[in-house]
Amino acid sequence: MSFDLVLFGGTGDLAWRKLMPALFQAFRHGTLPARGRIIGVARDDLSDAQYRALIRSRFDQVELAKRPSPEEFDRFAALLHFLRMDLSRPDDYARLADMLRQRPADTVVMYLATAPSLFTVTCEQLAASGLNTDNTRIVLEKPLGHDLASNRAINQAVRKVLSEKQIFRIDHYLGKPSVQNLFALRFGNALFEPLWRRENISHIQITIAEDLGVESRGAFYDNTGALRDMVQNHALQLLCALGMEPPINAHADAIRDEKLKVLRSLKPWTPHELDQHLIRGQYGAGTIGGQAVHAYRDEPGVGPHSQTETFVALRCEIANWRWAGVPFYIRTGKRLPARDARIVVNFRPAPHAIFRVPNGAVNRLVIHLQPKDGLELHLLAQGQQSRLASINAAPALAPVHLDLDFDKRFGSERVGAYERLLLDVIDGRLNLFVRADEQEEAWRWVEPILAHSQQDASGPRPYAAGTWGPSAASAMIARDGHCWTEEC
Ligand code: BG6
Repeated sequence: MSFDLVLFGGTGDLAWRKLMPALFQAFRHGTLPARGRIIGVARDDLSDAQYRALIRSRFDQVELAKRPSPEEFDRFAALLHFLRMDLSRPDDYARLADMLRQRPADTVVMYLATAPSLFTVTCEQLAASGLNTDNTRIVLEKPLGHDLASNRAINQAVRKVLSEKQIFRIDHYLGKPSVQNLFALRFGNALFEPLWRRENISHIQITIAEDLGVESRGAFYDNTGALRDMVQNHALQLLCALGMEPPINAHADAIRDEKLKVLRSLKPWTPHELDQHLIRGQYGAGTIGGQAVHAYRDEPGVGPHSQTETFVALRCEIANWRWAGVPFYIRTGKRLPARDARIVVNFRPAPHAIFRVPNGAVNRLVIHLQPKDGLELHLLAQGQQSRLASINAAPALAPVHLDLDFDKRFGSERVGAYERLLLDVIDGRLNLFVRADEQEEAWRWVEPILAHSQQDASGPRPYAAGTWGPSAASAMIARDGHCWTEEC
């Protein structure tokens, strides 16, 4: 099988940070079809050799184990080509068409890692130049729009020229091995399913913490914020995976139909409810891992009066029979103490106490997503009983936990998210990609939250870099009688 992967935005941040390393890993693992071309497209004036040299230099910033040796890079570089294009010029698409025609491939992937404002014109021009054939697939990177209207406009424009089965809307969280294990846990094991409902679960916490700041993406991020960057997509996809009903099979539409139902069941919040359920924060200067770091407003590309949130804590509810009344708390932020993404499923306490239980100790399932990939099941057990305890005193229990480390079990060198998703696109597997209606539903729910944030004259609450966000996030969850796991 042969492929051409045309990477629009070929010199951009995503290309060298995620896509090239992922393609190289697939090449190294021997899973990338051998006969292929990766064609970087951008406005820069580069020859193939200069493009290869640029990509080679970027690999210096990739973690050591994933960096190619000089010989490996030379072999990988043979796949790399460059085409200078201005995406608004029809002539430039004609040159791309010529290049692709010179050596027709079984599959042609057009990866749009550009600003979303270019998606529509690019798809229209690709179609106008005869580049949309049965073996063409399009990958659309997030963010797909800025709000519901722009998301719809892009989806409508793209659907005019491409059918849904050609469109791969990427949310790289779905490609993470740990997220696939969440599906395996829920739908490959019968153990938890009877417990997975409001009668047994008191609340669920979804935390996606990053220790990094906005790096070189200040200008983009300042126009985006955590609600659009993380909540509308990654966090809601995790919420869907947790809340959805078992799909009838593992096919793309069966899974997507169930996720869509969750999104449709999300309880809409009124502005008054949002005053209680939404906490936005913005990091100030602080210390992470012993290093002093700048405030968000001092990051390159960010204005001194920016009101953009870098932290969100949000209470959600899924209004259906399984979940009515169970809070799902989403929390995500930049410059938090560590890179730590996890889901904590808190079960209800035993209905009748015959034992003494330490404060706050409940049965809990912790699903570690990153950097650790694994499961912890927290239980209560009777350890050593004191012989001095009164004969009538209830015996005391102590917290214990089972710890399953998937990295140890399966090796930490498993296929990474982008590697997996890129191979899925080449193979035409849609399971881990987001359908237009899912995306629109997520925007529909998030939009009033964005509107509420915009009207909030007091702006996001400050928090010091290296902390878990504004204290109001703890107060929010405390109102329901709960606490974030690291605070309990
Ligand atoms: C991206 C966001 O989608 O996900 C980034 O735009 C964020 O702001 C990144 O840093 C997080 O991804 P990961 O895989 O590092 O958790």
